Amino acid sequence: MAQIILIISDKELKTILQNKLVSSYGFDVLTKETVAEAISMLEILPDIALVVCDIMTGKEAAVKKMYDYLEKNKADFSNEIKMVLLSNDKTFYPNCHIVGPQPNHQKLIKHIGFLLGKDSGNLDFFYEPPKELNEAQEESKTTIFQMPILSKPVAQATTKIKFDQLVVEYLPISSKYLLYLPETEMNFSAYTRFKKGNEFEYNKKITEGTILKKEDLDKIILRSGKEIYIEKQEFSMAIDYLNSLIIEKLQNYNLEPLHRVQLNSDSYEILLDVFKKLSFDKSSIEIIKELTKSVDQMANSPDCMELLSIEYQKRKICYGYAHSQISVNLLLAISEKFSWQNDISKNKIILLALLHDLTLRSDRLIKLHHRYSEESKNLTEEEKQIILNHADDAATMIEKMVKSPQELLVLLREHHGVRGGKGLSNILNTTILPVNMAFIVIEEFVAKYLAIIDKNILENKENETIMTKQQIDSILNEMKVKFEKTTYREVTDRLQKFFAYA
Ligand SMILES: [Fe+2]
Ligand SMILES: [Fe+2]
Repeated sequence: MAQIILIISDKELKTILQNKLVSSYGFDVLTKETVAEAISMLEILPDIALVVCDIMTGKEAAVKKMYDYLEKNKADFSNEIKMVLLSNDKTFYPNCHIVGPQPNHQKLIKHIGFLLGKDSGNLDFFYEPPKELNEAQEESKTTIFQMPILSKPVAQATTKIKFDQLVVEYLPISSKYLLYLPETEMNFSAYTRFKKGNEFEYNKKITEGTILKKEDLDKIILRSGKEIYIEKQEFSMAIDYLNSLIIEKLQNYNLEPLHRVQLNSDSYEILLDVFKKLSFDKSSIEIIKELTKSVDQMANSPDCMELLSIEYQKRKICYGYAHSQISVNLLLAISEKFSWQNDISKNKIILLALLHDLTLRSDRLIKLHHRYSEESKNLTEEEKQIILNHADDAATMIEKMVKSPQELLVLLREHHGVRGGKGLSNILNTTILPVNMAFIVIEEFVAKYLAIIDKNILENKENETIMTKQQIDSILNEMKVKFEKTTYREVTDRLQKFFAYA
């Protein structure tokens, strides 16, 4: 029977946890007053699976001691011992399950059950509605992933360079991060890479210990390509810091829509890079979680589609994000008229739109795969395979990364209308979930909508950023011929009504 140690001061919570964790799951619960006592238990009892700790004034060093002890000795335990921390502080305890200082008791019990494999967990657990959101937005709560400890090693290709006897390895990260660096003393160095003959050379652009100036940063951004490079020894610290800047920015609920659109697009590109390199860590999950809320907030912003169209035409935002955000906006706008919307949470709709194409690994393939029948002749075999497998890959990856609801996995896997997620359906499959049928219709609309903007860019029609009613009607009339079946047809009709009244 799994054992749990509680080192918490809240007597009420302690009693509830003691009773409920035993009665609900049969766990053996031990309470300890000090970390030293808990450590002596850990040394003699083999079945301790989890420690719940709080941070009280004056006790912080003790909690750090507990954390350090578990981190340092993890190789000695046959199973990983999880630590749940009643705090908001993620800075010093990166591998803990942070649940806030005063978590809802019922949710905490379920969450502990989930962490120890006895419960499906509560997917709302980590959601704290931002204080700045008003009552009206309260109902638009998003559901958030669980955050298991992800210890998957970073799987980027590394480059080893030998200077005298010293071997330096560099790891690439998305240069989008540079856009969010403040003027500050840097605690890591960053490099750009260029090819010289058959070798790569690295130029130091940011030097550890120097103060970064805005004008220098602007120059670096201008000259860096899609990636910047960090020395391997500094990589983990640098990526944690850079991710925390993005997360902090996303958590600013008062951003202007223009800035939010840009930030969402950059965050999307960072995630695309993470999916490409399989370099998930806890902060990637945190970015997904915050971006989900930010996409939701953007969807509530007036004139969102117009802003997205303008920024996309100016090439300020990437295709993948523009496509996802417009799809969310439209799906939310029309779904309230359908009975199936009762079965699907808003959060799943946003996650579907946000995550479904990230396994395509590049913005270019995201764009091309929406026109696969016309574009396949221009694609390599490898690119075709990536496209044909991406829906299944998306579901598989998310399933491995986090504890996610089965329905979301089905939605991701079948977003091209194929059961099992391999290939792209040429027929209108009526055996998939209605929300997938609606998504297929909306994806087609968005692809055609963005194709008109792409054409404007090619033809230098900078002034034609706003789509006319005729252009929208012509897209929808064309779609009506294709989508002649049941739900597909109803969604197309609903879109037409939506634009008629917009
Ligand atoms: Fe898509
Ligand atoms: Fe797709």
